[in-house]
Amino acid sequence: MKVDVLLGLQWGDEGKGKVVDVLTPKYDLITRFQGGPNAGHTLEFNEIKHVLHTIPSGIFRDDKINVIGNGVVIDPVIFKKEIEGIKGLGIDLSKSLFISKKAHLILPSHRILDAASEAAKGKSKIGSTLKGIGPTYMDKTGRNGLRVGDINSNFKEKYELLVAKHRQMLDKFYEFDYDIAEYEAEWFEGIKVLSEFQHIDSEQFLNDALKEDKSILAEGAQGTLLDIDFGSYPFVTSSNTVCAGACTGLGVAPNRIGNVIGIFKAYCTRVGMGPFPTELFDEDGQKLRDNGNEYGSTTGRPRRCGWLDLVSLKYSIMINGVTELTMMKSDVMDDFESVKICTSYKVNGQEVAHVPYEMTEDIEPVYTEFKGWKTDMTAMTHENEFPEEFNAYIDFIEKETGVPVKVVSVGPNRAQTIDRMID
Ligand code: GDP
Ligand code: IMO
Ligand code: MG
Repeated sequence: MKVDVLLGLQWGDEGKGKVVDVLTPKYDLITRFQGGPNAGHTLEFNEIKHVLHTIPSGIFRDDKINVIGNGVVIDPVIFKKEIEGIKGLGIDLSKSLFISKKAHLILPSHRILDAASEAAKGKSKIGSTLKGIGPTYMDKTGRNGLRVGDINSNFKEKYELLVAKHRQMLDKFYEFDYDIAEYEAEWFEGIKVLSEFQHIDSEQFLNDALKEDKSILAEGAQGTLLDIDFGSYPFVTSSNTVCAGACTGLGVAPNRIGNVIGIFKAYCTRVGMGPFPTELFDEDGQKLRDNGNEYGSTTGRPRRCGWLDLVSLKYSIMINGVTELTMMKSDVMDDFESVKICTSYKVNGQEVAHVPYEMTEDIEPVYTEFKGWKTDMTAMTHENEFPEEFNAYIDFIEKETGVPVKVVSVGPNRAQTIDRMID
């Protein structure tokens, strides 16, 4: 069997958690391959609304194995809270959740370093979630990091050594005031909870599962435009959020990748700083924010909103090799008189149809306008019910991208998901 990869094509928060939960019944294993608690993946079903940060979104379905892969970074404090939250819903994860020994740990001092780094950047700060993601991946690539597999051997010693390095950086480089001790007790409590789960050689585990004909869904975090290589650098996260990240973050070979499911909102949002060519500062932008409840699942920050950007969408499809699209949150635009899609950029007066090296603030979007569908789509269950204007919107996206929109989401609930009948 193959590994299908589901990932965000914009700046995160596309609705990945919801779709993973919807698709989970089709798979044997669900895995996370990168990122950490900077992610907030929301699931809604029955009367439950739940946000996951580190744990894969397959966790609410019976008989499924969920694996936190080697590419993920874990904060034991947040992990403990997540486990307690899920336990509170009567779900026991001890047999269904496995953690890679090679996943790196976010230390309290990583979080402090993140805050120090952002403070030092001043006006040009990234707008990080301040979860310690950047400093933890820096220690990984700098070959200093602590991994889950280290917990059982001289752990305290290794921990102290790394913290001593961090203290030097905070004192000498950042001159930042901090109190690591404040967080340490909670962190070691988290380590205890983490120790109760099975730590595995996840690359072996997953490849064995593939050999046994098990199917795997890899759940991306963040979005392609936040990728460390292909996003709007430096306003990005510190991992490879793209499809290739599933290979390195799980230890599966590229020829093991099957379908690549690209998730996008019918418009765009971004939280944090950085370029956003189609951002709206007018009442349409506010309406998208209000209708879509566009406030961060992890930080509560208002999300910046704008029209759908086909230039960057096509770029994301290209980088990831997307085989099918899922369009989210179309219901948010149900009451718009008209809606727009950006089809090219104007840079220094020249029209360009690709993402330029410099994603500067000076990019002027060129739009195609569509009539709004002015229909409440939230109770629809079949594509036959779609209004003509909505079909025109999807047809345009499919024609421009050359990729079928196989699924349309018309509300946050698991049930509000419509499969389109495309071969
Ligand atoms: P993720 O990080 O990609 O998993 O997305 P988030 O959970 O951060 O943000 C998506 C938000 O949109 C969540 O609050 C979801 O409950 C909500 N959502 C998902 N799909 C839909 C949809 O089709 N319509 C509406 N109105 N909300 C949705
Ligand atoms: P999910 O998985 C949206 C953004 C932050 C900031 C930049 C760097 O829920 O889609 P970091 O904490 O990684 O140093 O932040 O990336 N960011 C996200 N935006 N959704 C996310 O995850 C994000 N994870 C990070 O806002 O701009
Ligand atoms: Mg999110």
